[in-house]
Amino acid sequence: MSEKIYDVPTAWAQRAFLDDHGYRAKYEASVHDPEAFWGEEGKRIDWFEPYTVVKNTSFAPGAVSIKWFEDGVTNVAWNCIDRHLETRGDQVAIIWEGDDPSQSRKITYQELHDEVCRFANVLRNRNVEKGDRVTIYLPMIPEAAFAMLACARLGAVHSIVFAGFSPDSLASRIRDCDSKVIITADEGLRGGRKVPLKANVDAAIAKVEGGVDHVIVVKRTGGAVEMEPGRDVWYHAAADLVTSECPATPMNAEDPLFILYTSGSTGTPKGVLHTTGGYLVYAAMTHQYVFDYHDGDIYWCTADVGWVTGHSYIVYGPLANGATTLMFEGVPNYPTNSRFWEVIDKHQVNIFYTAPTAIRALMQAGDEPVRKTSRASLRLLGSVGEPINPEAWEWYHRVVGDDRCPIVDTWWQTETGGILITPLPGATRLKPGSATQPFFGIVPQVVDAEGKVLEGASEGNLVIADSWPGQMRTVYGDHERFMQTYFSAYPNKYFTGDGCRRDDDGYYWITGRVDDVINVSGHRMGTAEVESALVAHPKVSEAAVVGYPHDIKGQGIYAYVTLMSGVEPSEELRKELVAWVRREIGPIASPDLVQFAPGLPKTRSGKIMRRILRKIAEDEFGNLGDTSTLADPGVVNDLISQRQNKK
Ligand code: PRX
Repeated sequence: MSEKIYDVPTAWAQRAFLDDHGYRAKYEASVHDPEAFWGEEGKRIDWFEPYTVVKNTSFAPGAVSIKWFEDGVTNVAWNCIDRHLETRGDQVAIIWEGDDPSQSRKITYQELHDEVCRFANVLRNRNVEKGDRVTIYLPMIPEAAFAMLACARLGAVHSIVFAGFSPDSLASRIRDCDSKVIITADEGLRGGRKVPLKANVDAAIAKVEGGVDHVIVVKRTGGAVEMEPGRDVWYHAAADLVTSECPATPMNAEDPLFILYTSGSTGTPKGVLHTTGGYLVYAAMTHQYVFDYHDGDIYWCTADVGWVTGHSYIVYGPLANGATTLMFEGVPNYPTNSRFWEVIDKHQVNIFYTAPTAIRALMQAGDEPVRKTSRASLRLLGSVGEPINPEAWEWYHRVVGDDRCPIVDTWWQTETGGILITPLPGATRLKPGSATQPFFGIVPQVVDAEGKVLEGASEGNLVIADSWPGQMRTVYGDHERFMQTYFSAYPNKYFTGDGCRRDDDGYYWITGRVDDVINVSGHRMGTAEVESALVAHPKVSEAAVVGYPHDIKGQGIYAYVTLMSGVEPSEELRKELVAWVRREIGPIASPDLVQFAPGLPKTRSGKIMRRILRKIAEDEFGNLGDTSTLADPGVVNDLISQRQNKK
């Protein structure tokens, strides 16, 4: 924890939308009278039919219901495109920077309109209608944004699956939301390496009973793929046959916009459902204030559209604001560790938003790859996805931002739709490692294990006491699970799953997950998912997975594996298990450490004591806590001596 404080630079206080005083006044207004506040803010988007009801929300046990602007009618694609055409048709909407530095493309709002309409018409010709689910499994190419907006234009609900997920993971997501149409590419390209996306889709569909009706394939690399006649079509061929006009379907504010699967403590990933009006208002508003986005700014968020950050802060928030948003296909270290900074110079990026894991990895490569670039265009830096350690924060500030650019450390979740706790660059004094203060309308509370609300400086679990427009509405197809997961631990409050500390200045410091979710390189992973992949291996009898501190990834994946009797542990088997998990879930789930454990510490009732496994993985052998309920205390000593032998 760092005690250093960074004041708001004078230039910032003068040019920003809000200074400290402005923030406080607006925050007070937002929590004092949410109806009036959001009733005004809702007008930042265009409505075909205005809303008369602003907020209709309840966190009541067993009856959670969240509705915002419920009788308003609008369309997200209209707001992200059409309404800008008159004033900024020729302005660049999307700058695309390819994996290969020689490839880039600029798409104006008028071109975006034409591309999205064509994509929508291609979907419409395949019978995609309002309410239908469309799965998108694409790399970071402009067509990913076109496809999202095309769905929104028609009122279809997109479900993007990160292109790093395996065929199995893709299949379970296609099945869960019952999509009949898949949009993919022949291959993806990242860091010079090809990813066989169409082949993965074929393998996934083979696992989906009844298959799917249509697969639309964007040509990216030109690599050979198999096309099934009648089912598969090349996007460019289909797009040639349609016009660039397509009406925007009128959508109710509470009609679904997208589903995005995310991991929790238990079970399979949940389909987080976001709807139309409130989501867009919240994404647009946070994008404007948190990044202090002014007309003409070039804004770059390095996330992938496969994650919520890509949804809210590459596509929907920026485009709703008429911004120029940069989409990057590649990785931070290809062709060299200077890539991010070269892209910033090439496109004169003013606002740059990335993840701590990337910052830590680049920090390890030293200052020189950064210093050799100019970065003079940069004005603001952002961080998202996991706690940023003060050392990485300081390096980001000093070396990347030349001590000139404030850093907004933004805390939020797939479920929250947009940023909830964050500095505002013209208003908030910064403390490295703290996400600082709540955004407008957000009422964070720190509670203890019993649910008692703690006042003043305190540490406990983070809950949010009232609804905000960007909040998820349900788990797709399972409202019971939604209520159980988020509203049962602390009645009448949304439970975030994160722990946090609030300091004397009322600043929030997120300390990480308090459930069985781990955060690996900013990617959320349920330990249960990795465990079930491991036990699916014929040689594995039991597995327990925990996170442990990792220098670059934030957390690494530590797997304790008990083998079937008669199976001998070996280095080969260890590698096989890692490769197995990669295949089952995707490379992001690869265990960093596999420890063969003859037995796992369990209670007498057979429950695995993960707390102890976590401590062993963290090398905190002297601090195991209460072990009196262990069925067989000897198991723990075995695990510790094995862990020590490994070091
Ligand atoms: O633990 C918190 C961490 O990421 C979790 C949410 O992950 P996901 O739904 O994948 O969304 C990531 C992008 C919004 C949170 O529960 N997290 C996210 N941002 C921060 C963070 N932890 C600390 N500081 C942050 N700025």
